[in-house]
Amino acid sequence: MTQQDFIPFQEEKKATSGEVTWQSPSNIALVKYWGKLENQIPANPSISFTLDHCRSTTTLKFSPKKEISTKDSFDFKFFFEGKEKEDFKPKILKFFERIETYCPYLKEYQFEIYSENSFPHSSGIASSASGMSALALCVMSLEREIFPDIEEAYFNKKASFLARLGSGSASRSIEGPLVVWGEHENIKNSTDLYGEKFPYQVHEIFKNYQDSILLVDKGEKQVSSTVGHDLMHGHPFAEVRFKQAEDNLSKLIPVLESGDLSEFIKIVESEALSLHAMMMSSQPYFILMKPNTLEIINKIWSYREKTGIPVCFTLDAGANVHVLYPDNHRTEILEFIKNELVVYCQNGHYICDQVGDGAKKL
Ligand code: DP6
Repeated sequence: MTQQDFIPFQEEKKATSGEVTWQSPSNIALVKYWGKLENQIPANPSISFTLDHCRSTTTLKFSPKKEISTKDSFDFKFFFEGKEKEDFKPKILKFFERIETYCPYLKEYQFEIYSENSFPHSSGIASSASGMSALALCVMSLEREIFPDIEEAYFNKKASFLARLGSGSASRSIEGPLVVWGEHENIKNSTDLYGEKFPYQVHEIFKNYQDSILLVDKGEKQVSSTVGHDLMHGHPFAEVRFKQAEDNLSKLIPVLESGDLSEFIKIVESEALSLHAMMMSSQPYFILMKPNTLEIINKIWSYREKTGIPVCFTLDAGANVHVLYPDNHRTEILEFIKNELVVYCQNGHYICDQVGDGAKKL
């Protein structure tokens, strides 16, 4: 498919007023997206586990505008956890501007958007993936009111395509359990335009993989991801990094099929550290890990060495640690977290999540 395929061409049916609610999850990348080109095109392909419990729930209320004179601007109010939030509006306005070509009906409506997250607002967990994918799905439900013949596959692809224009990683939150975004020569149908479900055999062990998110630092992000991605332009290691991500994704294909956890761990941990190595070696440079991030990583390594249990970590662009492990070791790992890792979490907070199936309409 090309971007042109997402521009509606059918006969419009006028939608009446209404509302729709979607719940969409966060995701955790195994091979990281870090660096992008114009129009939210990723510099390298990435793959993530879709999460289950960390979700945004978004309601879009819509009604056709009555005044023709007001149809040259976007009209929306945004409420976060019940309160109107002006400071979130610029991000949504930018999203509407980016998707307008593909959703030319948007200016004909008045919107109220209500959003909330299942995870605490100040947890350091980025809500852009869950929030933008939930909003993109709401827009697609409106589109379905206007063009009732839309097919399910097109609905999901376009939802991911729109979500990507809001936030790159959001393109990977529509479906589950594993989603690839970005063209990769060994992955059929992979594309830079939207996320696709990983199309090959996946070993049982990954279907309910656990992710315990240790909240090391709940503060505002030191570097926004937009600024972070930008630092890959002119980065001395950029080309090698993009190639490394492609190679890691190639290596992950047979590993996901066979369930070879020792290879899985090598790829996933190396990706996390490479992401942070990029930040440390950019200009300007950043260290987003905190001392407690390193304490946790070292504890995980010695626990794995001592017990042989295949637990590993990954990181986003922040200090929090995602502890990944198979469900059949849940009891021991939760004990380990309580006994040895909780002391490194801010106020002892952590969130237990697992791999999920993607967004749901409520
Ligand atoms: C480190 O998707 O937040 O989490 O496209 O600018 O919104 P924008 O960036 P974003 O970047 C996420 C980067 C990452 C790695 C990943 O999720 O692949």
